[in-house]
Amino acid sequence: MLIRSPRRWEIAENQVTSESHWLDRRRLVKAIAAGPVLAAGWPAVAPAASDVVELAREQASGDPTSDLYPAALNPGFADAGREVTVEEENLTYNNFYEFGSFKEIWQRAADLPRRPWSITFDGLVEEPRTIDIDTLIRSFSLEERIYRHRCVEAWSMVVPWTGFTLRDLVDFARPLGSARYVVMQTFHDPDVAPGQAGWYPWPYTEGVTIEEAANDLAFMVTGAYGQPMANQFGVPLRLHLPWKYGFKSIKSIVRVSFTEERPLTFWEEVAGNEYGFWANVNPEVPHRRWSQATERVLGTGERVPTEIYNGYGAEVASLYAGVEGEALFM
Ligand code: MTE
Repeated sequence: MLIRSPRRWEIAENQVTSESHWLDRRRLVKAIAAGPVLAAGWPAVAPAASDVVELAREQASGDPTSDLYPAALNPGFADAGREVTVEEENLTYNNFYEFGSFKEIWQRAADLPRRPWSITFDGLVEEPRTIDIDTLIRSFSLEERIYRHRCVEAWSMVVPWTGFTLRDLVDFARPLGSARYVVMQTFHDPDVAPGQAGWYPWPYTEGVTIEEAANDLAFMVTGAYGQPMANQFGVPLRLHLPWKYGFKSIKSIVRVSFTEERPLTFWEEVAGNEYGFWANVNPEVPHRRWSQATERVLGTGERVPTEIYNGYGAEVASLYAGVEGEALFM
């Protein structure tokens, strides 16, 4: 992601990182072992691989919904055509800007309180309401799905998520017939999430059309790797839209609103010339600053060709009939 020239906000040059300057995980761990990397809150001690897995286990076992795991694997989503990414790799390579614009945010994200947590449904709904997250999660039958996950930064993973469909969440919310978009927001608490003290347009906001939300692939995630998800994945509820760039898959949701107007989403507001509303994966449409033709597979380091709609075209291409004139692939 990473923005060199914000339009509305002042930002010092030294706060901006371009993707090409990001350290990959191995270099980062080496660099951390050698001492602090940046002044801005990098961990001074190299994390041991076992620490991150142990922390994830602790978080999962203390979760009030841990009895719901592991959920049954949906046979329709049992094979993503690639190996599942090693859990430790996924736990230590995340985008969660609320905790910083670097990948190893897992220690900071550990400060995010998992409970109490509630979700507000509002806007064009029969009745606005706020629901405790555990009541909400227990209203659905959880299943596991193995999905490909392609970030706009040209890396990818394969993740065994647990959750329920966005379609079921929309039904639960009971939107009015006039609702055309589902808009989601992340929590906003700079005391917990130091990144939110910075210049980005918090809270993180994302949205999809009602038709996209009804697509069977659109998934609300509560768990990963067979247990309640670790904090850094966006606890306790996140979205995953496998045919879109990862930035659409908003984490740690507190609000779901239904609107007639298309929302201005977080990255669109930050840099609308680089990140659009639709954000469907397409290898033939380069990002303004890099190619989208291939992706680096996390865990193996292999570079593979990217597929249109991240390989899910059969399921989703029809959603975009009639809107071809728009920037569907950024
Ligand atoms: N949601 C919030 N609230 N904040 C974020 O910074 N980053 C997005 C998305 N959802 C982000 C977010 C981006 S750019 C990606 S690629 C995915 O989360 C990363 O998900 P992961 O860390 O589970 O791989």
